[in-house]
Amino acid sequence: MPVGLNRKCSPPGGAMASVGLSFRNITALAPMVRVGTLPMRLLALDYGADVVYSEELIDIKMAKCHRVVNEVLDTVDFVAPDDRVMFRTCEREKDRVVFQMGTADPDRALVVARLVEQDVAAIDVNMGCPKEYSTKVSFLLGT
Ligand SMILES: Cc1cc2nc3c(=O)[nH]c(=O)nc-3n(C[C@H](O)[C@H](O)[C@H](O)COP(=O)(O)O)c2cc1C
Repeated sequence: MPVGLNRKCSPPGGAMASVGLSFRNITALAPMVRVGTLPMRLLALDYGADVVYSEELIDIKMAKCHRVVNEVLDTVDFVAPDDRVMFRTCEREKDRVVFQMGTADPDRALVVARLVEQDVAAIDVNMGCPKEYSTKVSFLLGT
């Protein structure tokens, strides 16, 4: 399971050690908050992307989620206690999707990595997004 380090909102994957994924001369869908959801990622794959990033998902919220196999949609859903689906993925992107986690806590990051590892191709750590909505406490706590 490759784990990358993305220190700021910059082109992703720079420090990622790749096992199954190659980051040389590829077309990738960048991580984008509120954009990089499953429909967008599948569309990007349809249009030729080699690798697709999830939006940045915050560890505090993800750590509270449980994994649900959604047999209606044929997806795997990570569902928060308030029933919101925080991350949805599926078999078609399994070898191509990089889960980007926003974290500043190694223990919590490990919990979340373990939660999603069987469903994604790689995990990218974003620990320095400077965007205002990422640094607001309300966003980090998901409230
Ligand atoms: C709407 C939007 C949301 C973004 N969200 C993230 C994010 O969640 N994580 C991240 O690392 N970068 C994020 N970025 C930065 C992009 O991934 C990308 O690095 C940046 O847009 C520069 O890409 P470019 O060099 O192809 O223009 C976001 C950018 C935009 C426009």
